[in-house]
Amino acid sequence: MKGLTPKEIVFELNKYIIGQHDAKRAVAIALRNRWRRQNVSDDLKDEIAPKNIIMIGPTGVGKTEISRRLANLSQSPFLKIEASKFTEVGYVGRDVESMIRDLTDLAINQVKAEEAEKVQHKAKEIAEERVLDLLLPPRKEERNKVEPTETPLELVNKEQGKENTTREKLRKLLREHKLDERVVDLETTQRTIPIVEIFSGSGMEEMDINVKDMFGNLFPKKTRKRKAKISEAIEIMTQEEAQRLIDMDKVTKQAIERVEQSGIIFLDEIDKIVGKDTAHGPDVSREGVQRDLLPIVEGSTVTTKYGMVKTDHILFVASGAFYSSKPSDLIPELQGRFPIRVELESLGKEEFIRILTEPKNALIKQYKALMETEGLELMFKDDGIAEIAEIATIVNERTENIGARRLHTIMEKLLDELSFDAPDLEKKKFTIDALYVREKLESLAKDEDLSRYIL
Ligand SMILES: Nc1ncnc2c1ncn2[C@@H]1O[C@H](COP(=O)(O)OP(=O)(O)OP(=O)(O)O)[C@@H](O)[C@H]1O
Ligand SMILES: [Mg+2]
Repeated sequence: MKGLTPKEIVFELNKYIIGQHDAKRAVAIALRNRWRRQNVSDDLKDEIAPKNIIMIGPTGVGKTEISRRLANLSQSPFLKIEASKFTEVGYVGRDVESMIRDLTDLAINQVKAEEAEKVQHKAKEIAEERVLDLLLPPRKEERNKVEPTETPLELVNKEQGKENTTREKLRKLLREHKLDERVVDLETTQRTIPIVEIFSGSGMEEMDINVKDMFGNLFPKKTRKRKAKISEAIEIMTQEEAQRLIDMDKVTKQAIERVEQSGIIFLDEIDKIVGKDTAHGPDVSREGVQRDLLPIVEGSTVTTKYGMVKTDHILFVASGAFYSSKPSDLIPELQGRFPIRVELESLGKEEFIRILTEPKNALIKQYKALMETEGLELMFKDDGIAEIAEIATIVNERTENIGARRLHTIMEKLLDELSFDAPDLEKKKFTIDALYVREKLESLAKDEDLSRYIL
């Protein structure tokens, strides 16, 4: 496992997220600690518990964004889930343990993909042989192992020699992609599992697993014949062979190990499971969800279809706006399990200017690219950008502070007319300056009622 240093992690996060230095630092350290623990001697290793984090901050300041980017960075199995999922109306208490199962599924796929990559070469070789067999079916006698006494030995050798050279010629053509367009009859195997839906109050997932396991081997593997171009046939067969070459026991073992040792779960919207329970209503009790979460965060064993998974060393990063509640409203046991708290700052004009322009996926870059497809070169003057940021700040102050999300609504409104007219414009260049921004948005921004609805 290659470890990025905390500095490198922050550097990567900086490409997408402006400011929020404390939060970036905290997650960087947490991620690095996973790597450090891997390198500690075994007896101590088990003692080192992950330092779970709570990110606290108003809406739209980058909490979810940090987790998304972190997911891409860490090579560990990483699952992001909304804590509120477990309380949703109409969803009778989604089994909290299911997140461990999901994480394991994820790890299995990850390891499987890596293993498939490793056997790719071998699989391709076998696929090549299979395609050659299709093009030049091995002769019957050979397959049935006819007694050599029946035909003069010399003749057999000669025949085989001819076949081999033809085969080699075909192989050469195949490798040079000269046969790519030819169509062959392809037989693919697929296991047919009938779709069974089972409804039961709780433990739905568990049922699902068992049914698949029970019947998985019962239903026959179905072979399907179809026509395919050789180039495609090679692809399909390579994949099939790769699946066959992979040692699933090894994959399972590795995946579970990875989940247990370096898995990360991002619990978004944790504040939604905090607070007083409503006296009635179909919501699953929030405190109940916290109690369900506790053993998993504290460390317990969860049964998955791949085996038992211990959760002791899984890192949890929780995040929430905590408007009407505080982390201290969490049940005490859970508070202790999230020792690190970081606060994210609310964003102002300066940050908005940078968010508009700097990140790799910055909004302005996005709109420019979109307009470019219409042959329109869109330019933003600095004063124009500053004006957008200014208006976003004002609207956030006057109505509701939705952080950087405000930029999305404002930009959309600002470019509304251009977006509509772009294909028909004569001019192929358009510059957006402060004047244009004011012209489009000022009246809206000034009128509090209007901006509540439109911006
Ligand atoms: N600091 C930031 N730098 C760059 N972009 C940001 C930043 N903060 C927010 N954004 C952008 O604003 C949008 C919303 O951010 P995000 O989803 O991270 O909010 P959040 O903090 O999770 O809010 P909530 O509490 O409502 O879930 C995203 O599109 C994100 O790219
Ligand atoms: Mg969020």
